[in-house]
Amino acid sequence: MITVQDLRKVYRLGSREIPALRGVSLHIPRGEIHGVVGPSGAGKSTLVRCLTVVERPTSGSVTVDGKELTALGERELRTARRSIGMVFQNVNLLDNRTAAQNVAHPLELARVPRERRKERVAELLELVGLGDRGAAYPSQLSGGQRQRIGIARALAAEPSVLLCDEPTSALDARTTHSILQLIRDVRDRLGVTVILITHEPAVVKEACDSVSRLHDGRIVQQGPVAEALTAPESELAHDLLPLVTAASDAHAEDVVDITFSGDAKGTELLSQLARRFDVDARIVAATVETHRGRQYGRMRLGFGPGAPMPQILEFLAGNGVAAEVVR
Ligand SMILES: Nc1ncnc2c1ncn2[C@@H]1O[C@H](COP(=O)(O)OP(=O)(O)OP(=O)(O)O)[C@@H](O)[C@H]1O
Ligand SMILES: [Mg+2]
Repeated sequence: MITVQDLRKVYRLGSREIPALRGVSLHIPRGEIHGVVGPSGAGKSTLVRCLTVVERPTSGSVTVDGKELTALGERELRTARRSIGMVFQNVNLLDNRTAAQNVAHPLELARVPRERRKERVAELLELVGLGDRGAAYPSQLSGGQRQRIGIARALAAEPSVLLCDEPTSALDARTTHSILQLIRDVRDRLGVTVILITHEPAVVKEACDSVSRLHDGRIVQQGPVAEALTAPESELAHDLLPLVTAASDAHAEDVVDITFSGDAKGTELLSQLARRFDVDARIVAATVETHRGRQYGRMRLGFGPGAPMPQILEFLAGNGVAAEVVR
């Protein structure tokens, strides 16, 4: 469990003050995967550094499993930080150590006895699906495999929180998918709480239960991913379910964006509209995604001249479909 209260960080460059975090609050229950998205410069990396108190926030508190990290001195912090495993974009493995030795490293620092260390490393390599590659050096592993080793290393000290800063940004789509699967699997098996910093909406859709959107040091949207997907007016919904449109909607009289989920199936709706109002509705653009086994979609519809728009909008609302008139 992680609780962040009114976290602020102001950097000073000479006489200039740069507010990087302007009051960020978060509450992430145990076992939840929480995504943090936001454009470059929003404060994502600053948040990561303040969460582990590698960098002291200017004010506010960070509490992990009931322990307020921001109230601890450096010495106590070093111990408390073991409850947070870190995963980075650039895995930073030690090149002159094998995969197994890299995973063992934090255990050596924590003075875990050699026998126990060996057992634990074997378990961890197995957990990340690399039970047979312990003897390989980082240069002999693919990017995805290196990230797996990074995850095993992060889990070595049995942290209750896994903090992942852009863990898949350097990976291709397929490898990204397998690493996100691994993170979910680790969460399911070990019950760790995960914070996943990313600039890719696809990562949020695939891996996260809940999400915060950071903008200019503030959280401007927060909630379950499923909610963000069905809130048509939200910026996040536009990122998660983008509508790529061509210029071809030019001759439609009325253009409406609809957002639907689950049972309200978009295509069925179209034939209902045609039958009921005797209109032709064209799909100008559409995106359909699956999140946690449920379908979410957005569609841009173009209606020809004379379509009874007020009635159509009423019909859509009556069917639980959110509609936004674009033109
Ligand atoms: N050490 C520092 N000293 C001064 N300003 C800093 C420092 N670190 C970050 N900043 C400023 O704080 C703001 C937030 O930066 P941060 O690195 O947290 O953004 P980010 O969301 O991680 O961006 P990106 O997606 O590009 O990594 C920026 O305006 C940045 O210039
Ligand atoms: Mg960053």
